[in-house]
Amino acid sequence: MKRPCVLVTGGAGYIGSHTAVELIAAGFDAVLVDDLSNSEVAVIEGVRAITGRDVPFVEADCCDREALERIFTRYEFGSAIHFAASKAVGESLREPMKYYRNNLLSFMNLVELMHETGRRNIVFSSSCTVYGEPRRLPVTERTPRRPAASPYGNTKQICEDILRDAIAAGGGALRGIALRYFNPIGAHPSALIGELPRGVPQNLLPYITQTAAGIRDCLSVYGGDYPTPDGSCIRDYIDVGDLARAHVAAIRHMTGGADVRPYEVYNIGTGRGVSVLELIRRFEQVNRVKVDYKIAGRRAGDIPAIWADPALAAERLDWRAERTLDQTLASAWAWQKRLSGIE
Ligand code: NAD
Ligand code: WQD
Repeated sequence: MKRPCVLVTGGAGYIGSHTAVELIAAGFDAVLVDDLSNSEVAVIEGVRAITGRDVPFVEADCCDREALERIFTRYEFGSAIHFAASKAVGESLREPMKYYRNNLLSFMNLVELMHETGRRNIVFSSSCTVYGEPRRLPVTERTPRRPAASPYGNTKQICEDILRDAIAAGGGALRGIALRYFNPIGAHPSALIGELPRGVPQNLLPYITQTAAGIRDCLSVYGGDYPTPDGSCIRDYIDVGDLARAHVAAIRHMTGGADVRPYEVYNIGTGRGVSVLELIRRFEQVNRVKVDYKIAGRRAGDIPAIWADPALAAERLDWRAERTLDQTLASAWAWQKRLSGIE
């Protein structure tokens, strides 16, 4: 029987590559598209090695409508997962137009082409950043969105709205799911794919692994005086493989599930808040390595604490995070060791 096929934009990226692996493991085919603006073509080889399949890859910019159109003409697929976006919060404050242009145009092209060519199902990579600083924890999907603190965060809110409105106007031709990711971390257990930050990592776990590997001298813990039990910020760290499987669950739900609504939103997190200091300690214990750190000043724009209520995804998508934090932290270290050539 022919395997159903999914278009994966941003398929050479961190979450896109792991999702491609999980789609194929679940019986789908995947066509990967990426302009390699924040990834390496070697990632595609990693996906092919893990899956044992010659996964098709097209180097293209989703903002280039004609290039995207050629992909729609060439490949048969009924669903798309849209990861392609620029994602650095700080850079988006310095270069807002880059973020509005890339993140909005690429998504509008995708949504229009899906509609025009009679393809129905769209999954959009959204973010818990849409909640801003929530008044109550954990956050459910009914927690109101707050004004975005960065152009990056604003593009996530606008793209959610674009999807909702296009679906509402489409007369049943389109369906969509926005997945609001919490903090994705870790790597594939094979250590063949993982996160590839460019330059100095802005996110916590790559900074931890690079410090443990000796690439960075010392990790700065941004703030030790927050109103949390140990004074450091709390986040919901979700294994990238679990997150990837949430996309498979979303596609399955849209293509075969009962009681599917035209536009749905889900939190994708573990439901467990972990502080920066807890994460560092756990990483050291699990991997038996030292991470030098110091308590530094707060980082502008950080919120003290956020974690998900993931009950809706469990109930309606039959998805829940499965990997333990220890497994995830071990996978992140295995990946860093491979990158750094550490035995
Ligand atoms: P990533 O940078 O590793 O992956 C994004 C990929 O998209 C990259 O390979 C990049 O080269 C590609 N890309 C960017 N613009 C493109 C374009 N115009 N055309 C084609 N390809 C393009 O980032 P990621 O962490 O895998 O994030 C994937 C998605 O998830 C993004 O939309 C991001 O905003 C969202 N997200 C990420 C996080 C996180 O913490 N990593 C959290 C919430 C949401
Ligand atoms: C986690 C915690 C930092 C680095 C960002 C985006 C969000 C989403 C995920 C895409 C915070 C602390 C960090 C360091 C530290 N991305 N930290 N020292 O800020 O929760 O979310 O990535 O949608 O939109 O804002 O993730 O990994 O940067 O930080 O102490 O060197 O680690 O203060 O408390 P964040 P992060």
